[in-house]
Amino acid sequence: MAVSSDYDISSRPRRLRRTANIRRMARETRLSTDHLIAPQFVMDGENNREEVPSMPDTYRHTVDRLVDHAETLDALGIPAIALFPAIPDGLKTPDAGHALDPDHLYPNAIRALKKAVPELMVITDTALDPYNSDGHDGIVRDGIIDNDATIQVMCQMAVLHAEAGADVIAPSDMMDGRVGALRDALDSAGHTDVALLSYTAKYSSNYYGPFRDALDSAPEDAANAPAKDIPENKDTYQMDPANGEEAVRELMLDLDEGADMVMVKPALPYLDVIHRVQQHSDVPVAAYNVSGEYAMIKAAAQNGWLDEKACALEALTGIRRAGADVILTYFAEDAARWLEQ
Ligand code: PBG
Repeated sequence: MAVSSDYDISSRPRRLRRTANIRRMARETRLSTDHLIAPQFVMDGENNREEVPSMPDTYRHTVDRLVDHAETLDALGIPAIALFPAIPDGLKTPDAGHALDPDHLYPNAIRALKKAVPELMVITDTALDPYNSDGHDGIVRDGIIDNDATIQVMCQMAVLHAEAGADVIAPSDMMDGRVGALRDALDSAGHTDVALLSYTAKYSSNYYGPFRDALDSAPEDAANAPAKDIPENKDTYQMDPANGEEAVRELMLDLDEGADMVMVKPALPYLDVIHRVQQHSDVPVAAYNVSGEYAMIKAAAQNGWLDEKACALEALTGIRRAGADVILTYFAEDAARWLEQ
């Protein structure tokens, strides 16, 4: 049916889409390198790197190579990295004791990074899963993740990280009350300037698979080990993917306990949660574009099914539009290059 010539279309939103310049002026959301945090995996050894099989172009680096890589990220303008250690199986125990060794891979990596690239912010992780022989973020006692015992260890870890030079401590474990406890522990040790980035709404997600490959930290593997009563998943501490209101409750607690920044994780299946948290938060909101979200785009691109650059930038822009101030993403380095072009 043709539109008659006297039919009056009073509103024509397409006027603002007519040229590249007018689209640029009308654009509501900006994505810049300022918003990107690059997660990094560090492993023992020298002058080596290993590609994570389920995360093409993402590597575990030895400390020396990590430092080189950090110099590249810094030169690209990326403001921060989030560091995760790949701990050899032989050093993992049920009490995750290696995490408190002041001279192990992780604090050594922090010190090396802060010495070589002092301005690059280092965000450290205080969950126990890389160190725990059963793959859990907390201490397992009689088949149960012991909240308060876990917090005791995490507080010691946080002080160790701060002493090594960490700028921001990010608890990714989802224990109750850990933000307040960490703040107290850091302050009592004189680290009042070290910030807390809380994993506020971290879901019990299936999109973490490639990350668990990177660190060999899946609880499922541990469930086959001789130790008994090990829960096979993280459902008793990470959030139920069906819940949105609960994220706001977690947010209120974290703000009350003194979180400097809060996080929603994963990002793409939880854009509504990012939005809700952003609406209620008076501190910056981070979103974690997790390993599985990265792997999906990479795999499709390798098959020639999706345009990697276009899809990655669209996903990151969508996460920003939902309300994220900053984004942890394995695309950080590439995105920084693309955004420079
Ligand atoms: C564990 C931790 C996980 C991630 C970050 N820290 C996985 C998990 O909870 O099992 C996932 C990150 C990703 O998938 O990219 N404390």
